[in-house]
Amino acid sequence: MSVLSALPFLKLTHLRSSGRSPVRQRRHTLPASEFRCLTPEDAISVFEIEREAFISVSGNCPLYLDEVRHFLNLCPELSLGWFEEGQLVAFVIGSLWDQEKLNQDALTLHKAHGTTVHIHVLAVHHTFRQQGKGSILMWRYLQYLRCLPYIRRAMLMCEDFLIPFYSNCGFKVLGPSEVTVGTLTFTEMYYAVQGHALMRRNSGW
Ligand SMILES: CC(C)(COP(=O)(O)OP(=O)(O)OC[C@H]1O[C@@H](n2cnc3c(N)ncnc32)[C@H](O)[C@@H]1OP(=O)(O)O)[C@@H](O)C(=O)NCCC(=O)NCCS
Repeated sequence: MSVLSALPFLKLTHLRSSGRSPVRQRRHTLPASEFRCLTPEDAISVFEIEREAFISVSGNCPLYLDEVRHFLNLCPELSLGWFEEGQLVAFVIGSLWDQEKLNQDALTLHKAHGTTVHIHVLAVHHTFRQQGKGSILMWRYLQYLRCLPYIRRAMLMCEDFLIPFYSNCGFKVLGPSEVTVGTLTFTEMYYAVQGHALMRRNSGW
């Protein structure tokens, strides 16, 4: 699997410029808004958002810098970043998992033959929150996962106050998670992706 497998989804911005000569297609300014899979080079920007979103609040975060790099090296195609004029404003990072429920191993492992995407983290830069970006990015990510035929469902664990947010994104509650981080407990939620490669032909992406 490679980042190239994400191309049908990522072609969106390029398709819009079709018809122009190659010279005119060259970018002289940063795109106002761009969605793309992350690379290990984005890890520091990711971690800066996490630092403000999680560490400054609870002292913990879903993925530390080396873990961000780890997953962006192993499975960049399961990440998605939203960039505004070149600046990362929101992101999702996932990896593959191969069991019915998440356990402690799921926090650090990428099970390459799994059919479940474990969404480790969704975060929006604090100056861009409450503008719909978290919901839009998750929606685009779930649509994108439908283009990956080996994906059957997406799973995440969240604190209870975020259950309404993820329910609005289409996730359903699975039950309490066996994973704890310090005193924090979580609820597991899932989304049936029912991936069909053919869907992308008709999806307009
Ligand atoms: C949670 C998060 C991703 C939501 O993204 P966002 O762009 O701010 O959210 P949207 O604007 O798309 O949606 C707003 C809705 O989400 C819900 N919501 C967002 N943040 C919330 C929070 N901290 N607590 C409770 N509900 C929240 C609310 O229902 C809100 O609806 P409202 O406008 O009626 O109040 C973002 O606030 C964030 O990055 N938070 C810090 C990191 C985090 O907690 N990530 C999730 C766990 S991995």
